[in-house]
Amino acid sequence: MTSQVRGGQLARLLGQWHALPGRRRSPDYAALAGAVRGLLADGRLPLGVRLPAERELAEALKISRTTVTAAYRELRESGHLASRRGAGSWTMLPGGHRVASSGLWTPTDDLDMIDLSCAALAAPPELIHAARSAAEDLPRYLHGAGYHPTGIVELREAVAQGYADRGLPTSPEQIMVTSGTQHALDLVLRLGLPPGGSVLVESPTYPNALAALAARRARIATHGLALDGTGWDAELLLGSLRQTRPRMAYLIPEFQNPTGHLMPAELRERVVAAAHAAGTDLVVDESFVDLPLDGVELPPPTAAFDRHSRVVSIGGMSKPYWGGLRIGWVRASAPQVQRLAAARVGVDMASPVLDQLVAVHLLQAAPAIAAARRSQLTVQRDALLAALAERLPDWRVRIPRGGVTLWAELDGPISSALSRAAEEVGVRLAPGPRFGLDGTLERFLRLPFTLPAPELVDAVGRIAAVRYDLDRASRPRWREPAVIA
Ligand SMILES: Cc1ncc(COP(=O)(O)O)c(C=O)c1O
Repeated sequence: MTSQVRGGQLARLLGQWHALPGRRRSPDYAALAGAVRGLLADGRLPLGVRLPAERELAEALKISRTTVTAAYRELRESGHLASRRGAGSWTMLPGGHRVASSGLWTPTDDLDMIDLSCAALAAPPELIHAARSAAEDLPRYLHGAGYHPTGIVELREAVAQGYADRGLPTSPEQIMVTSGTQHALDLVLRLGLPPGGSVLVESPTYPNALAALAARRARIATHGLALDGTGWDAELLLGSLRQTRPRMAYLIPEFQNPTGHLMPAELRERVVAAAHAAGTDLVVDESFVDLPLDGVELPPPTAAFDRHSRVVSIGGMSKPYWGGLRIGWVRASAPQVQRLAAARVGVDMASPVLDQLVAVHLLQAAPAIAAARRSQLTVQRDALLAALAERLPDWRVRIPRGGVTLWAELDGPISSALSRAAEEVGVRLAPGPRFGLDGTLERFLRLPFTLPAPELVDAVGRIAAVRYDLDRASRPRWREPAVIA
């Protein structure tokens, strides 16, 4: 089945496609084609969807049909659109492109690109040793069929111990191992959210969580996070829960992706109470909990305030260890875990035993690995902050005290245009609108500090250069004053 995007929807996604304020203008058709390519490149416009008929889009954008015809022609020529007479036009990408782990479309062959669209670290050196030890352990499992829908016992024990160490007593029966945190979220949504159910999320938030919600056709309401302070506005957040009584709320209390905010203990307690009163299930994504920086002290886990099995916690190995492991987990009540395991049998049966054993070995070395990660991230974050202060002093950033990303407020609504321009000079960015709904957040950009410091500094230099070019294009050329008679 082909899905279709209507004229009004595409117009909303395109936003201010035709001009940056005062920018020297390229022809309208070229600007429109460029903006559609931008939407495809950052994943906001999916592949294989039918674009509106030319007349419909022209009406929605209040431009001439000839402009749309020319833009569609250009998109066909650049390999971004396939058309069949009488049947319509579908989005596509020129050959050799694929979808990246970040959910963004990326070419396979551009190894020179500095990729700031993905907020994940390369594997730690300990991974090879953990993999060898896991292979040695494997014979213990080979006599069985190898399907463990809730995960192998030793990993469930290790994860449960991790919660206990954070002050939240947890039994292995409360843990289900998944193939990554994203998988955990998808399973929790399958079980707890009926199609079309209402969900409250932070704005900005993690784009792939939005994708998982879209797949459930969730009705999404947002709670806007401030750049400053603690991010969450307690009264507004609690008020939304009370008034809209969503079926579910998805929050990232530890070093929120992308803002880096850490939710204070008091608010955690109040959110859990409000969620319970509203009949809302709370899904807390703890992906970054192992990565506090600057010695910042962590509040108790959100689930520590839960007396009614309202809170489901999800987390995984990707951020402190390695995304390629694809190991995550859910912490919930034991009966919920059983129901999740039953739901999972219809999806992927179980996670790979060997990868789970690797995770067990990495968790045994957790304190040393996490400490090394924190030092590495501190150096990289500080290099990124220093480069931004030097090269882009008009951008406003808040120093994140953990996690792997910072959220910059730009000096104009230029995030998508800047990302397109940066791609031309070898830096891939995830523009602000990727982290929200309906093309908002154009004034913001997420910058991860997961790459080595020299690459981050190089990237900021290139971004600053294209930012400057956007300005030069916008500077009106000098004209002789006209004589007024
Ligand atoms: C908040 C958040 N949740 C989930 C994920 C996905 O994690 P995993 O690789 O474990 O599926 C990420 C990865 O960036 C993330 O930032």
